Amino acid sequence: MCGIVGYVGSEAALGVLVDGLHRLEYRGYDSAGVAVVGDGAIEIEKCAGKVGDLASRVDDSGIAARAATLGIGHTRWATHGAPTGINAHPHSDCTGRIAIVHNGIIENHRSLAAALRERGHDLKSATDSELLAHLLEEGLSEGRSLSEAALEVLGEVEGSVAMVTIDRDDPGRLVAVRRDSPLLVGIGSDSAVVASDIPAILEHTRRVVVMSDGQVAEVGPGEITVFASDGAKVAVEPKEINWDLQSPEKAGYPDFMLKEIHEQPSAIRDTIRGRFEDGKLRLDEVHGDEGFLRNINKIVVVACGTSFHAGMVAKYAIEHWARIPVEIDLASEFRYRDPVLDDKALVVAVSQSGETADTVAACRYAKSLGARVVAVCNVVDSSMAREADAVLYTRAGPEVGVAATKTFTAQMAAMELLALYLAQVRESLSSHEIGEIATELGRIPGLVDANLESWSEQAKRASQSVGRSKDFFFLGRGVGYPVAMEGALKLKEISYLHAEGYAAGEMKHGPIALVEPGVVVVVIATSGHVKAKVLSNMQEMKARGATVLVIANDGDDAAIEEADFAFTVPEVSEMLSPLIDVVPCQLFAYEIALSRGLDVDKPRNLAKTVTVE
Ligand code: M6R
Repeated sequence: MCGIVGYVGSEAALGVLVDGLHRLEYRGYDSAGVAVVGDGAIEIEKCAGKVGDLASRVDDSGIAARAATLGIGHTRWATHGAPTGINAHPHSDCTGRIAIVHNGIIENHRSLAAALRERGHDLKSATDSELLAHLLEEGLSEGRSLSEAALEVLGEVEGSVAMVTIDRDDPGRLVAVRRDSPLLVGIGSDSAVVASDIPAILEHTRRVVVMSDGQVAEVGPGEITVFASDGAKVAVEPKEINWDLQSPEKAGYPDFMLKEIHEQPSAIRDTIRGRFEDGKLRLDEVHGDEGFLRNINKIVVVACGTSFHAGMVAKYAIEHWARIPVEIDLASEFRYRDPVLDDKALVVAVSQSGETADTVAACRYAKSLGARVVAVCNVVDSSMAREADAVLYTRAGPEVGVAATKTFTAQMAAMELLALYLAQVRESLSSHEIGEIATELGRIPGLVDANLESWSEQAKRASQSVGRSKDFFFLGRGVGYPVAMEGALKLKEISYLHAEGYAAGEMKHGPIALVEPGVVVVVIATSGHVKAKVLSNMQEMKARGATVLVIANDGDDAAIEEADFAFTVPEVSEMLSPLIDVVPCQLFAYEIALSRGLDVDKPRNLAKTVTVE
């Protein structure tokens, strides 16, 4: 994962690098560092901790070459080697001539490290990335240029590599390398910024070259020369970025997570806006070829984490409304299981960031098998948006909190629209039925809005009564199952407590052995065709001494009275209920994390965007 940035131009590089790292911190935040080319030497400052810690060190100490105009920076999410100062990037070679920053994983690092040690290299860190500096060192010592050495190194390493490197002896340019991890180069009039993502570039220029796999670029002030893997020069045309960064503010909330939970009504509203008009679903982005959509033989949803849970909801909705068989797969499993796909299959890739390495790879794989790919993502122009045949954007706005909240509800809303659209094209529902569902979907934002305060109060009280417990189960059936999965994920992500999401009917097949007094079970028991069965499962938990929290509809006394604690939610039709039921779960997780004094926006070990496999 990690965020990388490089600068060459006329400004002081340090400020550009630290600012760029702040903007890329969503990619990882366990350690950070910068390197600049000063007076005939490379100076490196790096430390464990967040970019703010690095910024203080840079301000207080550190780097003598404050006016240096060439440098690289890195914010890390550890893969190989603990998040310590020594493992932080940049890494240098034995001679101190070059420094590198890397985002990716080098899969053959063991054999390469052993060979480098045998050839006398002094490897200082436990990272896989440091090898790159030593391999480059060998290329340079044999008389190759930095870009020639970089091309050669790309041939030696297996795995994903986005790397930027600088050379003490060539302070006028940096070299960038890309394979399977994103890398973009912003070209200004007398400067250039290389970065993992556009936010670190936009302040400096809107002209951006998106590097392709296998390419190496020499980047100087206002110029770029790109080489393909065979060393041949490749002509590139910068594209103009025509959107602006919105600077995320907390707007009076104590943290981004709570703000984003409260933004869910507008995230859902904006996602459905203009997509149901005059009694018809209008998904202009995906309509493409309606003949194809009529003849799809199956849909495969691929996603990770929270997006996977949104995909689970989509499976229920598409099968129920459009009557198309839907498989759902974790993107990290999909391409390794030899899936059966052909040109009649539609693959729906769901991702907030559009950059998740597993999901991007799944898109590519699906396309290679002839399937059509629709991406459902929140970030305009992301890798997945570019890879897919069509994009259905969620319009949740930037999400800063690492634990996804508003993008999850926006994804579910988008997928419900997609399901209805397919039902419309395939005429599996009448236009009257579609209209009724779409109209009800339009009412959901208002219902969430009207209940947020009371759910917050209920969540505070629930966290006071069960917040000291160590084991939590979240149970649901039907569309309540993905809600249970997401409720458990939220709790473990931000509170570091053990939480399991289960299909309620599955408990008796094993996990019930864990249930005893002290265990907390959250049951999603809102109305639906399996509610009576969920309530029976709830009794089974009670009978074994669990403390039971229920998410039940307003006035459902049978469910509320049986539980130790109830979150009450308005009743909506079953397929739409996850849009409501998940919000109390998010607030419950939030309150428990706060009561434990944890940073809800940047939970340990996580990153907002996971760009390694
Ligand atoms: O950007 P994506 O939606 O592809 O990210 C997928 C997961 O990494 C993400 O949902 C993760 O599980 C979040 N931390 C959930 O809160």
